[in-house]
Amino acid sequence: MALRVRVCSMRDIVEGELRAFAVRGVTWPVIVTIVDGEVLACPGVCPHEDVALWDGDLTGATLTCPGHGYRFDLHTGRCAHDPGLELRRYPVTLVGDEIWVDLL
Ligand code: FES
Repeated sequence: MALRVRVCSMRDIVEGELRAFAVRGVTWPVIVTIVDGEVLACPGVCPHEDVALWDGDLTGATLTCPGHGYRFDLHTGRCAHDPGLELRRYPVTLVGDEIWVDLL
């Protein structure tokens, strides 16, 4: 069974910008953004080391970590620098204007 939590509403996010939202019981905030009209969500921490990703750069669907510059595709989670690393992506459900993500 999925652990679905409400993270934010559509008016809290902007296409092409990384926004981070604290979720009760979760250590790192959840990042939510819009890429090509699609709402995407991922953990706020880099899978390489514990560095906050919301301070990274988002160009198209590519999120560049501020830690060591690794690039992650937000559609696939793949890391361009290290194929062994993957950024989790949380399934997103829109309920009216509200954005819910499945953490598990
Ligand atoms: S901490 Fe993100 S690339 Fe190293």
